[in-house]
Amino acid sequence: MFTRTKTSGKHLSRALSTRASTVLQSLGLPTSGELAGVYDGQWKGSGEVMESRCPATGEVLANVRTASPQELHETIEKSRAAYRQFRNVPAPRRGEILRQIREELAAKRDNLGALVSLEMGKIKTEGVGEVQEFVDICDYAVGLSRMMNGRVVASERPGHVIYEVPNPLGVVGVLSAFNFPVAVYGWNLALSLAAGNATVWKPSPTTPLCSIAVSKIIAGVLERNNIPGAVASLVTGDKETGKDLVKSRDVELVSFTGSEAVGRNVGEKVASRFGKVILELGGNNASIVMPDADLSLAIPAVFFGAVGTAGQRCTSTRRLYLHRKVAPEVLERLQKLYKSVIPGDPLAADTLLGPLHTRSAIKTYLTAVDYLRSSGAEILTGGSKYSEEALAPGNFVQPTIAIPKSPEPKDRIWSTETFAPVLNVAIFDELEQAIEWNNNVPQGLSSSLWTRDLRHLGKWMGPSGSDAGIVNVNVGTSGAEIGAAFGGNKSTGWGRESGGDSWKQYVRWSACTVNYSDAAPLAQGVNFAA
Ligand code: UN1
Repeated sequence: MFTRTKTSGKHLSRALSTRASTVLQSLGLPTSGELAGVYDGQWKGSGEVMESRCPATGEVLANVRTASPQELHETIEKSRAAYRQFRNVPAPRRGEILRQIREELAAKRDNLGALVSLEMGKIKTEGVGEVQEFVDICDYAVGLSRMMNGRVVASERPGHVIYEVPNPLGVVGVLSAFNFPVAVYGWNLALSLAAGNATVWKPSPTTPLCSIAVSKIIAGVLERNNIPGAVASLVTGDKETGKDLVKSRDVELVSFTGSEAVGRNVGEKVASRFGKVILELGGNNASIVMPDADLSLAIPAVFFGAVGTAGQRCTSTRRLYLHRKVAPEVLERLQKLYKSVIPGDPLAADTLLGPLHTRSAIKTYLTAVDYLRSSGAEILTGGSKYSEEALAPGNFVQPTIAIPKSPEPKDRIWSTETFAPVLNVAIFDELEQAIEWNNNVPQGLSSSLWTRDLRHLGKWMGPSGSDAGIVNVNVGTSGAEIGAAFGGNKSTGWGRESGGDSWKQYVRWSACTVNYSDAAPLAQGVNFAA
């Protein structure tokens, strides 16, 4: 499964494993030498070299030349120039370009999905699903390109009409995270492009290959359509590149996905220059199981929510609140499922659990588990790294179920997001109690209630219900479709991306009052005659 051809260890002459080179070659990515990590119509890169590493094997997949500070600056300038041209392309024509991007992505779905697995570490079906999510949002944005409607407002003045008009906004900076190295950029690119903007994408430093592969596909379509490539620019780089992009006054909107700590900083920086910001930060999502729930639906959904993507979705299920009546059965059946998990190569068909994305994530996981133990939690299953030799080069950790000593949401066990497969369980007697626990954490991304009782549903979705941005019923916390707005409240950042009304953030709105009459009355009946 993990066999490799000989590796030299030297960057320029390295020999990639067959496993990796097959995937890279299928997407036309070079398997030797350095890769250019900047695109603004041309591929380049003269900054530091960044390594892409396979989290399952530790293999170095590529060395990428990132953007120098000067190159970032130039790229933003080029994107501004591209925007000035692109904003005048009719929106349905922009939609047609998105349709072509969609076709290219769909044709490469499997290969791109495999690259996501290889570089990020999620299992293949999820890697492919992520590309599908990009395809879906392109479909959505193609339609949107003919529906980004403004409004006609009734004026109080005779012979006057007010139009609310959406126009292209400018340059959109997209800073995406490692866990969805393709889809989250897709959400932003599709809406931004439909709206007539140029984007500058700064991907996670640990998933440069995915961003290069995606940008290559988009660049090909733009070039074929005689649209400047800088409409969809790419700047790989580290924190400093991200900071410079966030600071730039030439970037009207910054869409950031990542941690609460960094997001706070991004929010402050963008606000201080009066830019627009979309924040998609930590999730700390709970599932609540009522006694009337259909357990044959609830248990697999909690399993997927907590163990899927090795617990590395913003929407992963991290807290499980079980009604006392069903708690023993749910926990028993859940543990059986956990025991059946096959960890291993994310590209192998029978693998259910891939590695954590980075070595340092193992430490975060172990620290969380240590704290659980030292604070008197009962660990029902998991709680350490895997000991198998075949898994040792990768970042594999056991999915864990714990019953913390106290259900108090203010305790750091419950109030912090650990980006790993750790599920904490508490038992309740009344729905109100579970909703209170659900809400009493800083984050508010996703939540899920399992019930067949309409009265519970009404409470859950109503004013005294879940305060998260995603409030599901008989559907798990993760795996949202693109059609609704995606995002969270409170310290998750209040951002909305993807469907719903999210597109309205990617345009500048003008209220245009037009006087078609021969008189010029003032609003509110004000008289200002000299
Ligand atoms: C994320 O984890 O940052 O709802 C995005 C989901 C996916 C997107 C997750 N559609 O789980």
